[in-house]
Amino acid sequence: MGRAFVYVILGGGVAAGYAALEFSRRGISPGDLCVISEEPVVPYERPALSKGFLLPESPARLPSFHTCVGANDERLTPKWYQEHVIGFCTRIEEELQNKLTENMAAAMRGANHMLDKRCALKDKKGHAMNEMYWTKNNFDSEASMDILSRQKRRGSLENLPLLFPTSIRENMPWNDDTFRGIELVLGTRVKCADVRRKTLLTATGETISYNILIIATGARALKLEEFGVKGSEADNVCYLRDLADANRLVSVMQSNVGGNAVVIGGGYIGMECAASLVINKINVTMVFPEAHCMARLFTPKIAEYYEEYYKSRGVNFIKGTVLSSFENNADGKVTAVILRDGTRITTDMVVVGIGIRPNTSLFEGQLNMEKGGIKVNGRLQTSNNSVYAVGDVAAFPVKLFGETRRLEHVDSARQSAKYAVAAIMAPDKTADFNYLPFFYSRVFSLSWQFYGDNVGGVAHYGDFSGGTFGAYWVNKGQIVGAFLEGGNKDEYEAIAKTTRFKPMVQDMAELERLGLDFALQV
Ligand code: FDA
Ligand code: NAD
Repeated sequence: MGRAFVYVILGGGVAAGYAALEFSRRGISPGDLCVISEEPVVPYERPALSKGFLLPESPARLPSFHTCVGANDERLTPKWYQEHVIGFCTRIEEELQNKLTENMAAAMRGANHMLDKRCALKDKKGHAMNEMYWTKNNFDSEASMDILSRQKRRGSLENLPLLFPTSIRENMPWNDDTFRGIELVLGTRVKCADVRRKTLLTATGETISYNILIIATGARALKLEEFGVKGSEADNVCYLRDLADANRLVSVMQSNVGGNAVVIGGGYIGMECAASLVINKINVTMVFPEAHCMARLFTPKIAEYYEEYYKSRGVNFIKGTVLSSFENNADGKVTAVILRDGTRITTDMVVVGIGIRPNTSLFEGQLNMEKGGIKVNGRLQTSNNSVYAVGDVAAFPVKLFGETRRLEHVDSARQSAKYAVAAIMAPDKTADFNYLPFFYSRVFSLSWQFYGDNVGGVAHYGDFSGGTFGAYWVNKGQIVGAFLEGGNKDEYEAIAKTTRFKPMVQDMAELERLGLDFALQV
């Protein structure tokens, strides 16, 4: 058995949601697009899982953080995927213009109607027009209701049938495909891909074929077992990559309020989860191998600020060592962690954030790889020109640095996904992807943003005693990266602009002295 689509998005994470929105905005026909995801829910903003989702009071829960709310854009609920095929709306509008009777056209002109993006007919005040409207205007409400109930059974496009009196309905180009939206194949893992045949084989045994494939498979959390430590499947050891992990973490936290947690890893997951654990009244010890937290990005001076803040909130740091084993009780729960230096820490729970591995395995041997990801060109096209890759799994040329990078951040997933769809649907109007790397985090009441690259010499500036502070990275005489804690919208925009311009800097001491003013003047 099998189905065929023009476009298939493999993966149902951040990139998939933003790609679907872009497809719908650019206009696709019913049944053109399919999204396949191992997760049982439609795409959501993954960053919420280590922030709002873990709050003890009024935590964020789906459907509130489906994509694309993270970019202040539409929220794509399951219903949205069913209904939202702009190509279809365009066809209906055309049909209306062609086939409306004089009476109906006059009535509509009178009502200053508009068909909004959700296919709902609105009057000039923006109120939805319903059956009453058509009945009042002598249209065939019985026929309309007949179509309406058919659509309700299909669960989609409820408002549309009300647009059509019988005379028009009979001439409409409706068929079985007319009311298909974006096809969702959820809770389904793809276990095989054949890019030569353009097919994907799902774990349920279905073959799905495509003309164009967008790989958006993201990444999986590395397991302690991959570093030779056994026992991380215990009930009170938590990883955090998807909704199931987040639900589990919440339930383990709730049963250990007032208790102790060990956080393994001093990166993003470690820092954000440690803050959430503290907010949930759990005592935290962080363990990581580097000399300071967030070693991939922070300078020692920046790291010191956050570590001191965390200490003031009760967090204990054990640096320069790693976990070597767990101690368990008779129920199999972890009761203590043993570190390589011999230290034993008793604990009620463990959170592990030791990095990720991109989900490339389906395509190894079929597509070119680089930097642990799927190599793409400036159009996000892989070594097979029917296949694109976006988000965490893609290694793409970052023009600004003149080299290929794989980024593991949400903005890159959003922008690369939107860009790939533009390159697919409007190839002649789409120049090469020119992305400025952007990372951010929010912990406790702190909030920072970083743009660009953290290579070269560093000029720190600002108030490291609790105010606004930041740093510039200067490489070969040019600013290539900028960090800011506690900025406002204009200030963040200024450091982003500065990083994109890459201004020359002669005097590092002067740059430190000018600080944020330097960026505000660019
Ligand atoms: P993503 O991981 O979102 O989605 C991949 C999807 O593919 C998943 O649905 C997966 O199930 C599916 N899939 C994989 N293989 C499959 C298969 N074989 N068959 C079917 N489906 C398959 N970044 C940032 O800049 N700021 C932040 O604050 C945060 N915060 C944050 C918190 C947490 C808890 C995490 C885990 C991550 C972040 N990030 C972040 C990183 C950011 O979320 C990440 O970069 C994006 O989610 C990447 O989007 P993708 O769509 O590429 O992968
Ligand atoms: P990370 O790469 O940020 O940090 C991994 C950390 O694991 C390292 O800092 C190191 O301290 C530690 N580590 C590595 N090997 C170890 C070992 N054997 N034992 C103990 N510690 C070890 O990865 P992460 O924190 O796991 O985050 C996972 C992914 O989620 C990343 O892609 C990250 O970008 C993303 N994420 C991003 C944000 C954000 O941008 N705000 C927030 C959460 C997650």
